[in-house]
Amino acid sequence: MPGPAQRRPRQRVGLPPGYRIPGSTPFPDPPGRGGSALEGTLGDAAAAISRGDRALWRRPSAGICQAARRSLMSTISDEDTMAEQRPFEPGRFWDEMFDRPDYRYGESANPFVIEAVEARLEPGATVLCVGDGEGRNGVGLARAGYRVTSLEPSAVGLAKTRQLAAKYQVEVETIQGVMPSDVLGEREFDAVVLAYVHVPPAMRPELHRACVQHLAPGGRIVLEGFTPRQRELGRTSGGPGDVAMLFEPETLREDFEGLTIELLQEEQVELAAGDGHRGVAEVVRLIARRV
Ligand SMILES: C[S@@+](CC[C@H](N)C(=O)[O-])C[C@H]1O[C@@H](n2cnc3c(N)ncnc32)[C@H](O)[C@@H]1O
Repeated sequence: MPGPAQRRPRQRVGLPPGYRIPGSTPFPDPPGRGGSALEGTLGDAAAAISRGDRALWRRPSAGICQAARRSLMSTISDEDTMAEQRPFEPGRFWDEMFDRPDYRYGESANPFVIEAVEARLEPGATVLCVGDGEGRNGVGLARAGYRVTSLEPSAVGLAKTRQLAAKYQVEVETIQGVMPSDVLGEREFDAVVLAYVHVPPAMRPELHRACVQHLAPGGRIVLEGFTPRQRELGRTSGGPGDVAMLFEPETLREDFEGLTIELLQEEQVELAAGDGHRGVAEVVRLIARRV
């Protein structure tokens, strides 16, 4: 047994910038193990992350208990590790994030998304939800009477979207893909929703342009996402650790240049979306119309 001086540190084991292990994060004891065993386990996980040894810290059998792994995944990795992937494979990353019995961001639609669409479009209008995850927004909009197409790189997310649609007895078209222009041909929609779709900065303008390409005349982009204030103020309610993946309002204005901005507003909100997005959050909301 190592003496106290040799014990691995409990937190912040040389983590790279952007990774945070909140001191208050609860790590439930795994059955039959005491707190000290768990301290070591968390240290192992943090050290593995700092070495970039993702194979180790994602493998519970290598000494990282499931509880610590889940908590790490939900509090510090999130979209953060996605930015490091070479090549960039959001589907694979998000398959793992969504591989759980419940819904990471809950089953209820984002309130801003629903209100923004309902205030502008009649039921029966077409909505494309890009990066729809496990389908909370697509299914919520379908329940409100819209004809929804859910585009998502993760096969697991799409399967859960179909499951949620079946639960509420609504139709949602599900398409697997990363870039709308790769899979949607000439199709146009009355609204394109982007809820918390944070991608590496090199990809963001292209993704946003592709979304605009699929707007019908008069159609709207409806976007909500985190601003850099989410990290600057140390919020723990979700989002990538990499600030470059967050949205400055002015960056969105540039990305959606040529559209009429109906709303572009930074807000502090209280998120209650599953355990993926929960608590006080620094967000930006955008509604922009194709003229
Ligand atoms: C934080 S989740 C949000 C999911 C969903 N929009 C919601 O609000 O519940 C981010 C989602 O964006 C998707 N995504 C990431 N990169 C993408 C890309 N380049 N194109 C489309 N979707 C992407 C992920 O697969 C993931 O489902």
